[in-house]
Amino acid sequence: MLDGFLAESILGKGIAKQLLEVEVRDIRDWCTDKHRAADDRPFGGGAGMVMKPEPAIAAIEAVQTPGCRRIYLTPDGTPFSDSMAREFATESHLVFLSGHYEGIDQRIRDSVIDQEVSIGDYVLTNGTLPAAVIIDALARFIPGVLGDEKSLTHESFTGKLLDFPQYTRPAEFRGMSVPDVLTQGNHGEIEKWRTAQCVEKTRHVRPDLFKKYRHESDHQ
Ligand code: ADE
Repeated sequence: MLDGFLAESILGKGIAKQLLEVEVRDIRDWCTDKHRAADDRPFGGGAGMVMKPEPAIAAIEAVQTPGCRRIYLTPDGTPFSDSMAREFATESHLVFLSGHYEGIDQRIRDSVIDQEVSIGDYVLTNGTLPAAVIIDALARFIPGVLGDEKSLTHESFTGKLLDFPQYTRPAEFRGMSVPDVLTQGNHGEIEKWRTAQCVEKTRHVRPDLFKKYRHESDHQ
């Protein structure tokens, strides 16, 4: 699931430039029974299978390093955020555990996991794509990964409002034209227009973010 993701695009270039390194491991390599089973039925009954403690704990103990942060991807974790991505980007070693069943034995969480993270209120079949999402988001905050470091501060969530609409050439396309203010060269007016667009869009699409933005502006 990760090979293409790790080879392509901005992330692939960052890895090629050795700005970050990603190693993928298979938990089954730490399964010792003859069927190489990483899961078993839940004590107490119920649907689905549960990840066994021995292979997962052995796997994490084999890859962890002193001071690393061990993260379990799960829909019942703390919601992932822009600030988490920035913080993770400063860490020297992250270990991600992807669950693959109905859940994992609680003793894994209790003994070898430092933090539990969810990428949103929906359930995926496993934590591999969530780990990829987090790697992608944090990579943008590693110096040198994005060509233009400036583009970071102007983006959504940093300023607490959603982005303004962008246009490029041609100025006229299928009867749709670029707003006049953007082609007239008055930078003060362009700034005002962009801010108004951000406010309008955020109020409409993300009333939750808009409320926070209003609250913060009131207290400045
Ligand atoms: N594993 C399954 N669903 C997930 C989610 N929404 N976030 C993190 N890990 C998950």
